[in-house]
Amino acid sequence: MITIIGAGRVGSAAAFNILRYRISDVVLIDIFEDLAKGEALDMMQTAPALEFDGKIIGTSDYSQMKGSELVIITAGEARKPGMSRLDLMRKNAGIVRSIVREVVKYAPNCKIMMVTNPVDVMTYIAYKESGFERNRVFGMGNILDTLRFRSYIALELGVSREDIRALVIGEHGDSMVPLAEYASVAGIPIMRLLSKEQIEKIINLTITSGAEVIRLKGSTVHAPAAAIAIMADAILRGRNRVMGVSTYLQGEYGFYDVAIGVPVVLGRNGVERILELELLPETRKRLEKSVEVVKKAISELEAS
Ligand code: NAI
Repeated sequence: MITIIGAGRVGSAAAFNILRYRISDVVLIDIFEDLAKGEALDMMQTAPALEFDGKIIGTSDYSQMKGSELVIITAGEARKPGMSRLDLMRKNAGIVRSIVREVVKYAPNCKIMMVTNPVDVMTYIAYKESGFERNRVFGMGNILDTLRFRSYIALELGVSREDIRALVIGEHGDSMVPLAEYASVAGIPIMRLLSKEQIEKIINLTITSGAEVIRLKGSTVHAPAAAIAIMADAILRGRNRVMGVSTYLQGEYGFYDVAIGVPVVLGRNGVERILELELLPETRKRLEKSVEVVKKAISELEAS
């Protein structure tokens, strides 16, 4: 069973994907009980059309998460006018800490997937607050960035998106690190097919496209919900899929005491293994900068 906390735009869309792809039953929890109940009812009524039998419960009662294998946290606030980045981070950190305490109480053996932004900082907070082993607390961000990276590579080459394999690591934010040197089209390195300028353009689009969606429609929904479902599927079905996931590092890539996106094998136990890749010197520099950004945010939060 999967519990999703936060029945807002991302949480409810993720619940719907998990049901329709028959990954798991879902408990959807929100402080606004009517919202969670209404979403659950709406999805239940879709089931005959899309032919899924998974159960969906909407509630504000945290004890309903008992027995969950995976808890996905999408609860949080968006930045309001006049609110600083630090104010938002402080607010969401408070929400995440209080939710994690409930998770530890009712689902002590689960894995926690953080979605609430800034996701790398919130993954760090959830890891520390939960006391869980690090393989059980991780964040969704890079896989979404990777979907964007793959989309723009496909567009530039005029080929199917399905044939693009790629990775993005680092912060889920402006300092993210799309790994052009490891991107391929059906196994052909993109560096053999595209010029440096084309690759730079694709990388810039990958980095800025989340903000562009928010500018146009207020929030990102479909792509994050799909990314959450990909991770949920890898975990519930023990598929050992390889993707970038925000993970607490203990010396991997030379970094300590920070949660940031790295390539991992994602399976039944959450982060089964971290893959340490050799990076080009300029990519390594970008990753170091990205770690600095997340570490600075964590220390600002801890000092506030
Ligand atoms: P939303 O505002 O539509 O939904 C948030 C929901 O959380 C609301 O329904 C609210 O009632 C609920 N909530 C707040 N405090 C709660 C608590 N203590 N317990 C239970 N529920 C609580 O926001 P949206 O668009 O769904 O985004 C959610 C979060 O996900 C944001 O922080 C957003 O930045 C983040 N996000 C992260 C992505 C990623 O790649 N990691 C991608 C897209 C969004």
